[in-house]
Amino acid sequence: MRRVVEPEILDDLPPADPRAVGSRGDLRRLNFIMGHEGILTRAFRRHCETAAFRARPLRLVELGAGDGTLLLRLARRWAALGVTAEVTLLDRQDVVAVATRRAFAALQWSVESVATDVFAWLEQTSPHADVMLANLFLHHFPDPSLAELLRLAAARTNLFLACEPRRSPLALVGSHLLGLLGCNRVTRHDAVVSVRAGFAGRELSALWPANVAWETSERAAGLFSHCFVAQRHA
Ligand SMILES: C[S@@+](CC[C@H](N)C(=O)[O-])C[C@H]1O[C@@H](n2cnc3c(N)ncnc32)[C@H](O)[C@@H]1O
Repeated sequence: MRRVVEPEILDDLPPADPRAVGSRGDLRRLNFIMGHEGILTRAFRRHCETAAFRARPLRLVELGAGDGTLLLRLARRWAALGVTAEVTLLDRQDVVAVATRRAFAALQWSVESVATDVFAWLEQTSPHADVMLANLFLHHFPDPSLAELLRLAAARTNLFLACEPRRSPLALVGSHLLGLLGCNRVTRHDAVVSVRAGFAGRELSALWPANVAWETSERAAGLFSHCFVAQRHA
């Protein structure tokens, strides 16, 4: 399957539009069903089992974070490993609920949300992050802009984790069946578009800046997902 990037409906809906609210609820369920919390936690543990990461708060940035609830679920797991963090949730839309902010605070994790375009932020104001992650986000961009996004991210972090749609026949079939889970029309459309724009093989590694300072790995994860990790050598 050739990679095809097309617009997703959710990206252009106002945050309060009931179709957008419904679709973000669908995303919460789909992240759970696809096991993204576990996939990202295993990747984090494989690459972050160092005392340094526990000795001080991590600077943690999520790109295209949406409502922040996926990172909140990760925070609950990672806090149990002894990790604390200063979190930045970056998304074009500010859809982080007060309850989500309170839940981060209850873990003693600070959180700020930044509502802007990812390129503007990475180019101009983003601070350095220990860990940067992206979930169901990188597939929005065609290869040339994705290569630029990854180049900017590589200049701002030591560890980059991503969990994206897998571009495979099985994932494509699954994306056509989301009506059975009660997903709304926006989600049903965007899911098919997302799989066609998703990743396979070592496509993300090929777009990551070629540099001996970095080690990359990527693989199929779960039934429908694709996990990518880039780690800067110590
Ligand atoms: C499919 S949603 C995933 C949200 C979240 N990561 C999750 O798993 O629920 C993609 C998100 O990317 C955001 N987005 C799309 N293009 C963006 C851009 N150029 N800059 C920042 N955010 C963007 C959208 O607003 C949306 O919240």
